[in-house]
Parts: sequence; C-alpha cells; structure tokens
Amino acid sequence: MSAYEADIKKSQLKRVLGKWSLTAIGIGAIIGGGIFVLTGTGAYYNAGPALALSFVIAGIACVFAALCYAEFASILPVEGSAYAYAYGTVGEIFAWIIGWGLILEYAMGSMTVAVSWSGYFSKLLKMFGLHLPTWLTTDPQTYWASGNEGFSMNLPAFLIVLFVISILVRGTKGAAKANNFIVMLKVSAIIFVIVAGAFFIDPVNWTPFIPEPTTITENGVSHSAYGLAGVVAGASAIFFAYVGFDAVSTQAGEAINPKKDVPFAIIASLIICTLLYILVSLVLTGMMHYTDFNPLGKYPDAIKAPVAYAFDIAGQAWAGYIITIAATVGLISVLMVMIMGQSRIFLGMSKDGLIPATFAKVNPETGVPTKNLIILGIVISIVASLTPINDLAHMTSFGTLFAFTMVCVAVWVLRVKEPNLQRNFKVPALPVIACLGIAINVYLIINLSKEAQMYSLAWLAIGFIIYFLYSKKHSKLQNGGYGETFKAEQEPLEKPDLDL
Ligand code: ALA
Repeated sequence: MSAYEADIKKSQLKRVLGKWSLTAIGIGAIIGGGIFVLTGTGAYYNAGPALALSFVIAGIACVFAALCYAEFASILPVEGSAYAYAYGTVGEIFAWIIGWGLILEYAMGSMTVAVSWSGYFSKLLKMFGLHLPTWLTTDPQTYWASGNEGFSMNLPAFLIVLFVISILVRGTKGAAKANNFIVMLKVSAIIFVIVAGAFFIDPVNWTPFIPEPTTITENGVSHSAYGLAGVVAGASAIFFAYVGFDAVSTQAGEAINPKKDVPFAIIASLIICTLLYILVSLVLTGMMHYTDFNPLGKYPDAIKAPVAYAFDIAGQAWAGYIITIAATVGLISVLMVMIMGQSRIFLGMSKDGLIPATFAKVNPETGVPTKNLIILGIVISIVASLTPINDLAHMTSFGTLFAFTMVCVAVWVLRVKEPNLQRNFKVPALPVIACLGIAINVYLIINLSKEAQMYSLAWLAIGFIIYFLYSKKHSKLQNGGYGETFKAEQEPLEKPDLDL
C-alpha cells in the first residue's frame, strides 16, 4: 500500500460523494453573485462588449490551474486542496503560507458572499412589500458614516451563515443533496437569462466589439479603459465569478473514487460555467449598450444589478424577480461549499500540527469536523455582520490566484522530483501549461486593485509571523513525525486512465 492509499484509509470523513455530486459542488461554488453583479462593472469600466473575451481569458487562466489541480487530485486524494499539494512538494512553510492565503479565498470569500446574500435577500423582501430597517442590514461603520447613531449590524448576513452551518454539521450527504437542488435551480436561471435575453439583443450594441482605448474619469479619479488592455483588466475584474471550482479539491477526503472523480469534477464544473458565463456576457452586452452601465449616466443603478436591469429596460421587470430569487437561493450554495472547503483545509493543516488539534476532530456519527465548522461559523457570521465589505471580493481573488499560481509551480516540482509516481491524470505538455498558468495568474494578480494587493500581502505577512510564533513549534513534521508523504514508497507509473 502506498502512502497515498494509506492517506485515503486514514481519512475519517465519510466517502459519500460521487462524480456528479462533486461536479455540482464545483458549480455550486462557482455560480454566485459574481456573474449577476460584476458583468456591468467589467463591461463599463474595462472591456465594453468584449467582456465575453475577458471571461474567455479568466476561463483560460482557470483551466491551466484546473489541469494542475486535477493532476494533483489524481495523486493525492486527501482534503486540503492546494495546501495539501504544497505540503508534500515545496515544503511546510510554503504549504503554510498557501493555506493561510486560502483563508482569503474561502473564509473571506464566505464573508463577502454572506454580505451579498443579505443584499439580495433584502431586495427579495422588498418584492413582497417587506422592508428591513437599515440598522439591521448595515455594518456599524457604514451606518455611522451615513450620519446615523446607535447600534447596527447586518443581521441577514449573520443568520445565513448560522443557517448554512446548521446544514453542514449534519453531514456531507445532506449538504450535497441541498447543493444539487440549488445548482439545478441556478443553472436553470442562467439558461433562462441566456435564452430569454437572446430575444432582446440588438447587434448594434456589439459594435465596435472592442472599443477604442479611452480614459474614464469619475470623482476626479481617472483610469484607462477598453482596447486589448481593457479586455485583460476586465478578466481581473470579473475573476471573482470563477472563484470556487477548486473547492472540489477540498472535498477529496469525502469522494468515493477521489483519484478519478475529483479531476473530472474540477474540469467539468469549470467548462460548464465558462460556457454559461461567455453566453451571459454576450447576451447582456447585446441587450444594453455598455455605456448605459455608467453610474453617472441615465441608468445610475444599472451597474449594481446589471442582469436584472437589462431585463427591466427591455420592459420585462418580472424576469428581474426570477433573477433575484435565483441569486438569493444560489448564493446559499456558494456559501455552503466555501465554508465546507475552509473547514477541510483547516482539517488538513490541523492534522499536520500547524493549527490546534480541535480543527481535526471528526464527529464519528456525522463524519464531519463539527467543532471546526462551529468555530468557523461563529467567526464568519460575526465578521460578516459587522465589517464593511469593500475590497474583500478582490482579496478573495488574490487568495485564489495566489493558490492557483502555487499549484502550477508545485505540480511541476513534483513531476521533476517524483517522475514515476502513479498519476491517474497527467497534464499534457506540463512545462508549457504550468508556465502559462503561472504567467497569466500573476498578471491577473498585478491587475487587482492596489488596496487589495496591499491588504492581501499584509495578511500573508501576518501568516508568516504566526508560523514562526506557533505553527513551527507545534508542527508534526518539525518534531520528526508526520509529513513524509511524498518520500514514501511509490507505485509504478501507469498509463493515465482519464482522457479529457
Ligand atoms: N464565484 C462565486 C461568486 O461569483 C464566489 O459568487
């Protein structure tokens, strides 16, 4: 038995997820607020009608990383995602910093999603004539900044996190069923947008497809837009919409046949969502002229809810209701998968001694790390209800792109270090794919907002401090125990049996 097989047996999590449930987990995490909200921003500030090309570029960046994730998942089918992959290849300290960066993607991503959910939920209530007071839907800083006094919190954001935790602690099987249902609903909504929207496309809105480069000045701040550079900047701006497909790799500890099904699900969920996203962006920029998303123009609110607004302008306000319902329900599964992913990454880090042992305790009845989930739930719900969420979406993208880059590096390192390891899936032309993956992901990081870059780097610096103050001392690897995974006996190389 190889070390990897041993790892599978060692996992105390319940193996209940098949190929399509895993794919649904990927789609569940990917399709969320991003596609319904960021499309307007990407079209107006960056790419114009060529927003579809921005989605292609971001999709390609993800495909390179997805292929590398898939190879890793076919070798090391344990929970922990990029953290676990780095642990065995580039060393503990790199793994730690990747795991720390993944907190930006998953935990901070969950907070962002909880706050977006609260926005959609309030809108949904308004549709039924109900109105929540501002002090119950706003974080204190934003509330006080608007001249108000007294107590305030984002109660819906707080409650939705607790609701999701109550589903997750019951076990992965039930959560996967709920996720499958929500995924069906939101994919239907996206297909609805594409088909119904196609009737309102005016091809004149697509010309010129890539507008001439220009400078947009708003509130005294100027930035360049459109042209090819705008298309690439657009890819960074909408990248958040793709965040999540790698969540499949956090669930490998619960997959029935992880070495085959996790690689399949990572790539399948990404391809399905990329196609849907490209079509949505084509329909949207065909329905509305990109300049109509100008927040200082004739439709000042269009940029906040571009997809719903496009239908409104086409005289089909009812379609906006369908989209609001789909987004409200759909975001619950993003939250579910992200919190589930974060708990499994913590579980991996805890098993290695880098964070306290509590995070690795699995409830034998439900097969999930209950305490880990509850601690996460408390922290995420409190922060989401009390913090203004401005740069968080960009920081989430930073954490994700950082992990993607490191996975492209690590998979290559492992090919060189351990060429004979059994790989059920091998990335074709790895040096080319890995280099392109690294280049494009780093480029997208550079294009994120400067604030997000600064905060994210500060976050990584805090991570290093914690490593030297706590994790290094408690690490099992540093104390001569665990962590020899990739040096252990290996199986002979077999022909890859997953052809994509
Ligand atoms: N991709 C997810 C979303 O768009 C995070 O909400």
